[in-house]
Amino acid sequence: MNSISTKDEIKTLNDLCFQIPKSELHVHLEGTLDPEMIFKIAERNNAIENLPSNFKSLESIKKSYNYKNLEEFLEIYYLASKVLLKEEDFSEIVMNYFKKVLNHGVKYAEMFFDPQSHTRRGIKLETIIKGLLIGLKISEERYGIKGNLILCFLRDLSEEDAIKTFQNFLELKELKIVEDSLLEKIIGVGLDSSEIGNPPDKFKNVFKLAKEKGFKLCCHCHDEGSLENIRKSVEELNVDRIDHGIDIYLDENLLNKCVDKRIPYTFCPLSTKKVQRTPDLKVYNLDGLLEKDLLVTVNSDDPAFF
Ligand code: HPA
Ligand code: ZN
Repeated sequence: MNSISTKDEIKTLNDLCFQIPKSELHVHLEGTLDPEMIFKIAERNNAIENLPSNFKSLESIKKSYNYKNLEEFLEIYYLASKVLLKEEDFSEIVMNYFKKVLNHGVKYAEMFFDPQSHTRRGIKLETIIKGLLIGLKISEERYGIKGNLILCFLRDLSEEDAIKTFQNFLELKELKIVEDSLLEKIIGVGLDSSEIGNPPDKFKNVFKLAKEKGFKLCCHCHDEGSLENIRKSVEELNVDRIDHGIDIYLDENLLNKCVDKRIPYTFCPLSTKKVQRTPDLKVYNLDGLLEKDLLVTVNSDDPAFF
């Protein structure tokens, strides 16, 4: 475990920021795939020739990590995640993330993963889940950081597909593919990917099922029209948390409801700056939200991409 230094050792604000103990509640494991790791994993799997043309060198990958909006980002994000094929690849993304954030003072992390983005490429759900959980077990022991996982549904796919994925996951739990205490580390379900035209209520049934099975619920709301999506997530899905939710400053009544219900918001400044309508983060009035007692946390989202 890394420990806080004495006051004398904290020389600059930057040092202090690194050393403050942190919880990271909103990070996509696939969003931690940096160009170096993409190459390393592709090489190990003898799959360099399968990389897309804009991923043929570290420089060209870095150049393609550049987007004007969520859709452009998602296209690159899914391309990058195609490099993940085997159990050990999934273990490695967790271990690599923990290794990095150890020096950022992270003590606890809740990490999203997108199973459907891999199963639709023919990867077995068992490979994904086993790989991630074994990686998590090794990382917790090695780095002294605690972690849990959130299974995210892709909102641009059907609810039927989400239900099938969730049921497959429940079956794997029954089969005890790893020890129970590890399986319990998948604590919630979320909703991410392309938001426009895919509102939260499209997933009412699968969220209800997940709640009944004891999982926490959260939902990304951050593209155009997201205020309505925050309302639907809170009022129709009964979520425990809103991810991003940057437009909440626009509706005082809804904001007060979230304060009363203690529904937290996982704010992600860097991705918001890069892919939202305005790069000016002051618009979202983070200070004002905190003054109103809204629970707002700061997170990295997809650190390798932003
Ligand atoms: N929004 C939606 N889907 C995502 C994101 C995001 O910020 N990151 C990874 N998948
Ligand atoms: Zn996110």
